[in-house]
Amino acid sequence: MNRPTTDRPGDQALPVKAHDRPAGADQAQEVPEIGLLSPLTIRGITLRNRIVMSPMCQYSAADGLASDWHLVHLGSRAVGGVALVMVEATAVTPDGRISPGDLGIWGEQHVEPLARIARFIHAQGAVAGIQLAHAGRKASRELPWKGGGCLKTPEVGGWTVVGPSPVPFAEGDPVPEPLDEAGIDRIVVAFEAAAHRALAAGFRLIEIHAAHGYLLHEFLSPLSNRRTDRYGGCLEHRMRLVLRVAERLRQVLPAEVPLFVRISATDWADGGWDIEQSVVLAKHLKELGVDLIDVSSGGLVPTARVPVGKGYQVPLGRRIRDETGIMTGAVGLITEPRHANEIVTGGDADLVFLARELLREPYWALKAQQELGAEASWPTPYGYAVRQRAK
Ligand SMILES: Cc1cc2nc3c(=O)[nH]c(=O)nc-3n(C[C@H](O)[C@H](O)[C@H](O)COP(=O)(O)O)c2cc1C
Repeated sequence: MNRPTTDRPGDQALPVKAHDRPAGADQAQEVPEIGLLSPLTIRGITLRNRIVMSPMCQYSAADGLASDWHLVHLGSRAVGGVALVMVEATAVTPDGRISPGDLGIWGEQHVEPLARIARFIHAQGAVAGIQLAHAGRKASRELPWKGGGCLKTPEVGGWTVVGPSPVPFAEGDPVPEPLDEAGIDRIVVAFEAAAHRALAAGFRLIEIHAAHGYLLHEFLSPLSNRRTDRYGGCLEHRMRLVLRVAERLRQVLPAEVPLFVRISATDWADGGWDIEQSVVLAKHLKELGVDLIDVSSGGLVPTARVPVGKGYQVPLGRRIRDETGIMTGAVGLITEPRHANEIVTGGDADLVFLARELLREPYWALKAQQELGAEASWPTPYGYAVRQRAK
């Protein structure tokens, strides 16, 4: 088979596997296999491959403002060949920050520094996405490298944390102030305003952070949501806030802009949020026009028993993909190109999100291209030089 090599944007085709053949296709006939290096079009954007830089808080912002650090951190991975660069959890309100160092998007002042980053990412042939977030009861914390403890009072730089119910994350943590209906409405409005600003900054994709024990996840899980109003109790009530945010954002976003939602598919804790509920949620999100579920897990309670291991969250996403037909992203301890490729070729997920491995190796995607038999799509100023040295 003729394997095209590319300069960016990537457009590689690899040999086909049976399950990817269109129904009725001649077995002998070659159709391009969908693999890690295959492009993917979602609404108005085309990703050059299936490799995503997973959102990763840098805790390196002042007053929520993106800095040169964020430009280089995110820009390097765009240079390194990933298709989608997801900006870290970016707080829709100041009290929605995990730490004082979180990125924010609650004011107009945040737009231009983010726009600079989005422009650079797009100039590299990658797509810039941004994760919009509210940390809920897990807000107001020290920087992780300073211990990550709760900042309990304004004197030490802390603030009041909010949540669905007065249930702290861990014993001794601040008790969150329960949001009333007006407070919930303000959260929805804050996500909407943040989405407008993200568009103004030039982002072409938005992800709602509804995972890892932050505010939207706190509403989903019976372990953190003890409400008896229309936002708590039965599954339909617990899903209401996430669905409201997703619905509002879908209304605000132009048709060509994809909307992703990151969820924790299970709390890994008895009586908590689980995969069955996640499937129901994914069905609703799909109906609202959400394009992809980015399937993570855990983070809601410190007592969770998480079976951490290579690709341990992949089966959760597979189930959501199989039972709802929505696209999914796989994330968590995926480090090897061949494993990542198998996740896509085997139909476990449509995209592969990498976090820590991209910190270790910003050019992971270029190396993956080589390992999978394609030519690395070096950026132009590097490509000719790297190829010359190879001669
Ligand atoms: C430094 C760091 C910061 C993170 N920040 C975020 C974040 O902002 N939003 C999010 O959804 N997940 C965040 N995560 C989780 C990652 O996106 C990812 O889901 C997790 O690290 C598992 O993937 P990995 O095994 O490839 O690292 C973070 C992880 C790390 C290591």
